Amino acid sequence: MKEIKIESTLYLYENLEALPKKAFLLMQEAIKARKKAYAPYSNFNVGAAILLDNDEIVTGNNQENASYPSGLCAERTAVYYAGSQFPNAKILLMAISAGSQKSQTTKPIPPCGACRQSIAEYEIKQEASIEIYFMGEIGQVMKSNSLSDLLPLGFDKSVL
Ligand code: THU
Repeated sequence: MKEIKIESTLYLYENLEALPKKAFLLMQEAIKARKKAYAPYSNFNVGAAILLDNDEIVTGNNQENASYPSGLCAERTAVYYAGSQFPNAKILLMAISAGSQKSQTTKPIPPCGACRQSIAEYEIKQEASIEIYFMGEIGQVMKSNSLSDLLPLGFDKSVL
């Protein structure tokens, strides 16, 4: 038996103002999108903003449904919209902000597993890393240089 260690590097910014300018501006769009989420069941709003290499910014937020599994997360709403509207553009940056309607969310909220899998597809398709910044409503912002740092040992087309 051999032990295998997998390493990921993440970066932590003390607050929104500490972000590089492009990421700061994109996070503002994610925050705006978060405020427009449709989340009457969980009362948990998430907004995502994507910067493409054609300078377009695409945003999305979670869209819930009375039939709970029919709803969709913010990240996938945004990433699928980007893929459908700009199929040849590359995703450079993604910013995510999440917050509960009941209390202020002060720590970075990473994308769920299903969203990581969906974002991974685009990273592989475009053969270039996607930088992902995520936060709560206020406080520290976490960054990964690539989706693969958030989803090691991912499932991809190479095995099909
Ligand atoms: N949610 C997202 O939008 N993104 C995630 O990565 C995690 C969860 C949404 C789904 C649901 O509407 C609410 O947050 C609570 O799970």
